[in-house]
Amino acid sequence: MPDTSNDFPHEMLREIYEQPAALRRTLAAYLNAEGLNPSIAASLSDWANPAGEVLIAASGSSRHSGLAAEIILEDLCGLAVDVEYSSEYSLREGAERRHPSVIVLSQSGETSDTLASLRAARRRGHRTLAITNAAASTMAQEADVSMPLAAGIERAVPATKSFTCQLAVLYLLALYECARLNKTGAVQMNPTELAAHIAALRALPDSIESQLDPWHSQIAALAAKYKSAASFLYLARGVHYAIAREGALKLKEASYVHAEGYPTGELKHGPNALVSDRVPLVVLATVDPALDASVIRYEKTIQLLREMQSQGARVIALANTADSTVPALVADCIHVAPAPEHLLPIAEVVPLQLFAYFMAIEHSVDVDRPRNLSKAVVEQAIS
Ligand code: AGP
Repeated sequence: MPDTSNDFPHEMLREIYEQPAALRRTLAAYLNAEGLNPSIAASLSDWANPAGEVLIAASGSSRHSGLAAEIILEDLCGLAVDVEYSSEYSLREGAERRHPSVIVLSQSGETSDTLASLRAARRRGHRTLAITNAAASTMAQEADVSMPLAAGIERAVPATKSFTCQLAVLYLLALYECARLNKTGAVQMNPTELAAHIAALRALPDSIESQLDPWHSQIAALAAKYKSAASFLYLARGVHYAIAREGALKLKEASYVHAEGYPTGELKHGPNALVSDRVPLVVLATVDPALDASVIRYEKTIQLLREMQSQGARVIALANTADSTVPALVADCIHVAPAPEHLLPIAEVVPLQLFAYFMAIEHSVDVDRPRNLSKAVVEQAIS
């Protein structure tokens, strides 16, 4: 496993390993020693919508961080959030009776469909917030408010560090919204609870850093074991569903192996017909024991794993470090250090990025530049 920055054979692996540092830089941009930064709170209060409606438009991995944000903003702040494909939202016409505050998410800040969504939202009179990894990008400049990531330049086509930094900024946005709404009485989050959320967020980069090497060796071996699978189904519930979608996208684009992400409970409504020796499952079964809803989701997932064991499915699971129930039910288990429910996605996507990376190596794919893809999907001018 790599010891120095020069040891990385590919940009994608380097960028996976850069995530703890990228997260620390991003958190430092939005938090001060006391916690939330009043000047950022002031700029966000201009963006916020009195009706609590938010619309998120994005593509690809950025849209997946939007799916996680939908759950985070709804669960923590009670907002009503819709997530759109920017390629669809930008082409929508007709009367819009709602006036959501709009978030565009984009690593590059230049993706044509997301830029078109931003411009459509502005034409409709919505307040707009751009979260990009390029502070000088077109989206960052045209939106009413910009929250840049500090992930640093991301060169590999498969997004990794920009994705985890997007999740961190979206979590911070939720905390800023909670603090604002707390003053109006719309949300109850007292200063002690807010401080606990911030402390948990600040602890994540070290936690991920300490897990990278063990994940690296385990997952390189898993990729060798599963390299001949024809397709994978990634399953998860709640906020983790966004990570199932992201894990599947990462595998497709990096290794050319087909994969799809589903909510775990949907398996029996069709996709289970595909499950076989050649079609394994990747099941996210992490849990936050402090949150009842998370425990209920986990128990339902355990039930599904029992059924999959009887069915003879090949399953790779992600589970909490101390969990001994999940490993007994599956072929392979990747452990993830415990974290609060809405922060677990930032950690649990990392082993899925590594799985996509090592599957790409097994399949001899040029992982930094997969065929037919480019880093920013920008329309060519027609001459
Ligand atoms: C991510 O791994 C992909 N390369 C792709 O889905 C990407 O997220 C999408 O094209 C959106 O790009 P953006 O974040 O720069 O807008």
